[in-house]
Amino acid sequence: MPLSTLRSHDDTWDIRTSVGATAVMVAAARAVETEQPAPLIRDPYAKLLVSNANAGVLWEAMLDEQVVAKMADLDAETAATVQHMRSYQAVRTNFFDNYFADAVAGGIRQVVILASGLDSRAYRLDWPAGTTVYEIDQPQVLAYKAATLSESGASPSAERREVPIDLRQDWPAALRTAGFDPAARTAWLAEGLLMYLPADAQDRLFTHIGELSPVGSRIAVETAGNHAHVRRQEMRERFKKVAETLGLEETVDVQELIYHDPSRANVADWLNEHGWRATAQNAGDEMRRVGRWVDGVPMADDKDAFSEFVTAERL
Ligand SMILES: C[S@@+](CC[C@H](N)C(=O)[O-])C[C@H]1O[C@@H](n2cnc3c(N)ncnc32)[C@H](O)[C@@H]1O
Repeated sequence: MPLSTLRSHDDTWDIRTSVGATAVMVAAARAVETEQPAPLIRDPYAKLLVSNANAGVLWEAMLDEQVVAKMADLDAETAATVQHMRSYQAVRTNFFDNYFADAVAGGIRQVVILASGLDSRAYRLDWPAGTTVYEIDQPQVLAYKAATLSESGASPSAERREVPIDLRQDWPAALRTAGFDPAARTAWLAEGLLMYLPADAQDRLFTHIGELSPVGSRIAVETAGNHAHVRRQEMRERFKKVAETLGLEETVDVQELIYHDPSRANVADWLNEHGWRATAQNAGDEMRRVGRWVDGVPMADDKDAFSEFVTAERL
């Protein structure tokens, strides 16, 4: 099976291209959730960050309930999959918001958001005084977010420090240069990232994090789900057909950007073997637990298709 046809070991992007545009996709889901009558999370910056990005009509269409309703007329399973994806993003955001709330309640004041994309937690969460949030992502992605939010008059609710570097390069050095204190307990987050890294880069990432994490540090990770290849292909074809019928141009094919790498380590196992105490929550179970499961999706019976939300503490 090809790992990825569009990727290379040193590829770069901005907010509209390649992996950068996936940040717009998940921000669109947060924007939709924020406008629900009883939202699980509130991200008041997501909509602006999506509409300003000009990353393609498809992501903006995802904000539009009428488009999703039209999709349902054409292909009910595809529309349910879109609803499921939006609900999933809300559940995932909620899970990791709670993780950070626990971490700061436990006295941690240093936070590192890996591949932060259009994550606006440094602006929207209620951080205690003295908290520093480091955001690592490719330079143009971070620059887009900071410029857009600053032009809108938003300001961070913590000390926010950008670390504009690719996570396949020497990011620990860049993080230290930005002021990171390796002796201080840290809360790390890797959300929406691992699927865009090859298996060996994933291992290296966690090795570096371990080296920078004193006892009592924490980490939260969204793992890469493992959809059966055939099913993934089939759903992709159906989605493309529906999008084409509705005149929505798909600028980025997310599946082509992902490293579907069968040798990828199980994150909870890896952490448990490398100095952390980790537990994993299946994302489908978490969706059900918070009452946000969406019926009618084709992968419902395939537990492996779902990612896990892993949390761990450094021993
Ligand atoms: C799906 S988005 C998730 C963004 C954010 N974590 C969130 O949940 O809203 C993927 C992000 O990973 C970043 N990314 C992927 N691979 C990266 C790498 N090798 N170095 C730096 N950033 C990377 C992309 O730029 C993009 O912002």
